[in-house]
Amino acid sequence: VHPDEQKFFNTALGLVKSAGRIVREAFEQPASAVETKSSNTDLVTETDRAVERYLIDGLHAAFPDHKFIGEESVSGGAKIEWTDAPTWIIDPIDGTTNFVHRIPLIAICVGLSINKELRGGIVYNPITNELYTAQVGTGAFKNGFPIHASSTQELSKAVIAISLGIHNLRESFGAKWTDLNFENQRKLVQAGFRGNRSFGSAAINMMMVAQGSVDGYIEYGIHAWDVAAAAVIIREAGGTIISPDGSPFNVMGRCVLCTGTPQLSSTISTNFTHVQFQAEA
Ligand code: IPD
Repeated sequence: VHPDEQKFFNTALGLVKSAGRIVREAFEQPASAVETKSSNTDLVTETDRAVERYLIDGLHAAFPDHKFIGEESVSGGAKIEWTDAPTWIIDPIDGTTNFVHRIPLIAICVGLSINKELRGGIVYNPITNELYTAQVGTGAFKNGFPIHASSTQELSKAVIAISLGIHNLRESFGAKWTDLNFENQRKLVQAGFRGNRSFGSAAINMMMVAQGSVDGYIEYGIHAWDVAAAAVIIREAGGTIISPDGSPFNVMGRCVLCTGTPQLSSTISTNFTHVQFQAEA
């Protein structure tokens, strides 16, 4: 364990809380300029950029040798370089479509990796004021209170967030991607799961699993910044996190399956058709 890890985490926590103000103020205004990135479902606003800048500037001032992997920096052309150095993996607003549509399900996500191990995670919804935190070995918390993933093993009792991740892979897989997504949803319906609730933010979906409200979440096409912080929280909440095909979770692997129990993961995995694509680092 890095001797300064606690200091790293506390500094990030302070910055995330203040960044919440930027997001809240923007959320209360009428929606302004929206730009598209890779497609017309892949959105960015000036608030995404401002929050990412604020977090990176603050962390860089405190820890000049730390590295960053930030959603908007990467879409602005920065390369994803994941090294052993303490690295902050940042999504300034996970759920940008929700933000643009003023749906209050959004999260500022900050994850910390050291020696390529995810060590700490902060997921903050500044609109509902729900702050989720975890560090390896400490348990997971929501606004300071412990949270636990569900103990549901049977698909018939499971509410699952199945997300289409529409903007992420349509470009690479074309119409086949849409077909596969609907096919996978159909298979889970036929296998008899209880219901689908997907919240438009990978991190919020994962927090729903971490607090035991939803039993599982699966998505192909996500990026490291959508899941890095949330992965630590899921694990510390007692949940499992793997790749949908059953292999170990890779934060750079662009896919995730998390559940309260390994039994449920295995059932979901079996009922899915999987795709292969390149890790982002
Ligand atoms: C997106 C959200 C969405 C998920 C996409 C993500 P963004 O993140 O988490 O729920 O389906 O895969 O890219 O672009 O709003 O930060």
